Amino acid sequence: MTILVTGGAGYIGSHVTRQLIEQGHDVVVVDNLNRGHRCAVDSRCIFYEVALNETERLVEVMTNHSVEAVLHFAALAYVPESVAQPLWYYENNVSGSISLLKAMHQADVGKLIFSSSCATYGIPDSLPITEETPQMPIHPYGWSKLVFEQVLKDYHAAHPDFAVTFLRYFNVAGCSTDGSLGEDHDPETHLIPIVLQVALGQRECVTVYGTDYPTPDGTCVRDYVHVDDLAAAHILALNSLQAGDCRTYNLGNGQGFSVKQIIAAVEQVTGRSIPVKYGERRAGDPPSLYASAELIRQELGWTPRYAEVSEIIQTAWDWFRNHPHGYTPE
Ligand code: UFG
Repeated sequence: MTILVTGGAGYIGSHVTRQLIEQGHDVVVVDNLNRGHRCAVDSRCIFYEVALNETERLVEVMTNHSVEAVLHFAALAYVPESVAQPLWYYENNVSGSISLLKAMHQADVGKLIFSSSCATYGIPDSLPITEETPQMPIHPYGWSKLVFEQVLKDYHAAHPDFAVTFLRYFNVAGCSTDGSLGEDHDPETHLIPIVLQVALGQRECVTVYGTDYPTPDGTCVRDYVHVDDLAAAHILALNSLQAGDCRTYNLGNGQGFSVKQIIAAVEQVTGRSIPVKYGERRAGDPPSLYASAELIRQELGWTPRYAEVSEIIQTAWDWFRNHPHGYTPE
């Protein structure tokens, strides 16, 4: 099957592209290279530098390559940035995604896996979060994902053969174990990479954003899932997608770790001590988010290989140690 991957030069998209190719699929990647890395795109796939709002070019790509399904990763994905620049987020994540969907419609492509987020749940009333937990985002990034979920539901209702799966990611972390793919964000805002950069001496310390949350140690709790486990879930979701489906799965490990626990785990994995500063809360952070991923386990047989957060951190540490400047050569 020929698959179109949007955002295939990004952190998650590049890891999923690799697995798709290894599973025998032909992959076409489109990416505007705004935040992605051209060298992260597997050389076995076809690459186009195209933005989501270029509907006609997307139609051309889909038609010329007889694309049968789309995996849609391309998005802006920093919560604080979305709070500061909401229009930019809606333009990319909603308008851009609608342009992609129009292109799929014109090119008669009827299967989509959409990268959604646990951010669509906002501050849940109860934990763990299931797919039935009410969705009430608390920041523009979360809303942008939820709005496009709704667009897809409405499109699905009008085109009953259209097949879509929403994968709601929790905190994706870790890197490919062969060392060829990794995490290289600019700016970097995510906790694990930042703490590892402190371990490497690239930053003086990590600032913990808020110590007065209603959690056991007062710092925010998140559910960390390895990027290759997440990639494997995409393959399962794609292979099981049937005409007319509209499915939703949470993708997390099911266990919450606080910011302090992550820092301690990094100290243990790296054997280095991490200087910490305690700061104010960061805009848009819910206190505690962790998943029930029972549904995807039961329906698709998804079993994460990296169940321990220390194993996830180890794979990231291997990447950061060997690529202190990310994909940029020294
Ligand atoms: N944190 C710090 N210091 C830092 C960086 C992060 O204390 O220097 C804290 C954050 O405040 C948060 C936790 O570490 O409590 C995790 O933060 P990340 O930035 O690593 O991840 P987020 O939980 O903010 O974001 C992730 C995804 C988003 C998704 C969001 C849902 O990256 O795409 O989960 O909440 F929307």
